[in-house]
Amino acid sequence: MKLVKTIAEVREITAEWRKQGLTVGFVPTMGYLHEGHASLIEASSANNDKTVVSVFLNPMQFGANEDLASYPRDIERDQKVVEAAGGDLIFNPEPSEMYHEGFSSFVDMTVLTEELCGLSRPVHFRGVCTVVAKLFNIVKPDRAYFGKKDAQQLAVIRHMVDDLNMDIEIIGCPIIREENGLAKSSRNTYLSASEQEAALVLSRSIFMGEKMVNEGERDAEKIIAEMTQMISAEPLAKIDYVKIVDLGTMQQIQRIEKPALCAIAVYIGKTRLIDNFFIENV
Ligand code: PAJ
Repeated sequence: MKLVKTIAEVREITAEWRKQGLTVGFVPTMGYLHEGHASLIEASSANNDKTVVSVFLNPMQFGANEDLASYPRDIERDQKVVEAAGGDLIFNPEPSEMYHEGFSSFVDMTVLTEELCGLSRPVHFRGVCTVVAKLFNIVKPDRAYFGKKDAQQLAVIRHMVDDLNMDIEIIGCPIIREENGLAKSSRNTYLSASEQEAALVLSRSIFMGEKMVNEGERDAEKIIAEMTQMISAEPLAKIDYVKIVDLGTMQQIQRIEKPALCAIAVYIGKTRLIDNFFIENV
């Protein structure tokens, strides 16, 4: 397994693979890898001849008051995770390699990015789409793997690939959780012991909402009300949003009549965490 820092090196290695007729899977990440990331790398290496993993803490997708400076990093540990999960190449560029002086082209998406996380993180999806489009152009993968943990991001990337005719298959992978239910996240490292305990309210409310849907409830407001009540009872939790949206448009719905997404964002202390469940069989 190799780690490279320049676009030219990635291009050279992946071009050679393609010349040999090998398929290339791609897993974009921001590093500080955990089992959630590892599951994407494993899925890619099971279904492609070669797997590229990018580790790039993308400044463009962080707002001015967000956690770019404190975001955890450990590239040595990341290399071990990628190797163990079957990755073949890590692309770990510096910001100056990705954004040269005078950089001024962006991928801006409307509608899907204007709900949920887009409301409290207005510059976020412009940064995500721009960096993912760049990474796709650099790696030129056959398939790219994204977690359902970031459900809106997955929908946005699928939409971008469709809108811009990118010839890449997007694969959505299941949410990996701690045994206690908490969705794995690099940001969980910010949580104190008492906050970790409080953070369990996210998955508890998600499981409760999912159970209501499985038992036949179709009134979105009723589900949201129960989940909101459960989360509000936790003193360390502050709700950003609890919403049920159409899976295609990310716009809020009243009744669940076609594929939908129930998504939540909750502050536990200063840490903003997200979780969700998909409602696909309606
Ligand atoms: P990052 O937060 O590092 O996540 C990289 C990928 O891992 C994303 O597709 C995310 O959905 C997935 N992931 C994270 N936690 C997961 C979990 N518990 N279970 C399953 N998958 C999980 O998302 C980003 O980075 C960035 O926005 C990026 C796409 C790399 C663009 O900069």
